[in-house]
Amino acid sequence: MTPKSGSFGKFGNLTILPPERDSFEKEIDRIIEAGTREHPLHVIDLDDVVRKHLNWLRTMPRITPFYAVKCNDDPAILATLARLGTGFDCASEPEIRSILELGVEPERILFAHPIKSLPALAFARSHGIRRMTFDNEFELEKVAKEYPDAELVLRIRHDAGRAFIPLGKKFGCNPRGEGLRLMDRAQELGVKVIGVSFHVGCGSLDADCFYHAIESVRVVFDYAQSKLGTRLELVDIGGGFPGDSDKPIQAYAEAVQRGLQEFFPNPEEVTVIAEPGRYYVGSAVTLLSTIQGKKVIYDDQSGERKRLTRSSTSSMMGCLGRCLTG
Ligand SMILES: Cc1ncc(COP(=O)(O)O)c(C=O)c1O
Repeated sequence: MTPKSGSFGKFGNLTILPPERDSFEKEIDRIIEAGTREHPLHVIDLDDVVRKHLNWLRTMPRITPFYAVKCNDDPAILATLARLGTGFDCASEPEIRSILELGVEPERILFAHPIKSLPALAFARSHGIRRMTFDNEFELEKVAKEYPDAELVLRIRHDAGRAFIPLGKKFGCNPRGEGLRLMDRAQELGVKVIGVSFHVGCGSLDADCFYHAIESVRVVFDYAQSKLGTRLELVDIGGGFPGDSDKPIQAYAEAVQRGLQEFFPNPEEVTVIAEPGRYYVGSAVTLLSTIQGKKVIYDDQSGERKRLTRSSTSSMMGCLGRCLTG
């Protein structure tokens, strides 16, 4: 059902709340008071997603966000972002499928997993999703064979000094060593590399690392130009931006702008994209889950109470957002 403007109330899964500041919190209280529930529930403030997007456009107007679908693939969030015109970072075939079903053009999708299964690669090919990341030779050879007209993005490693979830041990290659060898190998195989990406780690507490990561991207661009005669055109600054409403992204944006101004001063030369995930959904999503039981752990020697554990429903695992339990 389409909500009429100016009316409040429930419209399917969507509840239009009055514009008071605390109406979202009151709605959550109302759901909790309605009683315990068997399954956990996401309560999503879609206005918050829109506000985050407007803030992104204000703070980093040169950078197109490709929302990282893995962070929260709720259809309402995806549909909202699709209407707002963001791109999407998809890490698997089901993620790509859910974005295509929204009518999003393949050019707005980046297949951002450096290791892709053969069926996923075939699916991407059959749907015209050409842009995808890689960070190793095996993947390069796989893509050369299975999808020779793909447009590859080399994922380099650049870790934040401090991050909630560092990703560098698993993904990315050295931009001054292995990365350059991979660029040579791509040329030998006749695979097109169009740009360079990095991810400094989720929940990065080190804004300045974006500046240095962009400096490393420049190293690869220069190598491609001077040694291989290729002009790269895409810079992907990944995710890592905070998503809580009390943690602004200004310091991050400032480091990014400084890096771009210094190493890519000509906006005509490159397209810059990012893969924010938590930034868009961290403060917008509240998880409600019923505590099914509690267990007190006692110290064996002293008999003193050591800690309290709470058990909730198992399908809570992997949910991202604020957690409220009751
Ligand atoms: C490749 C990639 N891009 C983007 C993201 C989203 O990161 P964040 O939530 O820190 O913005 C992740 C998170 O794991 C990721 O692995």
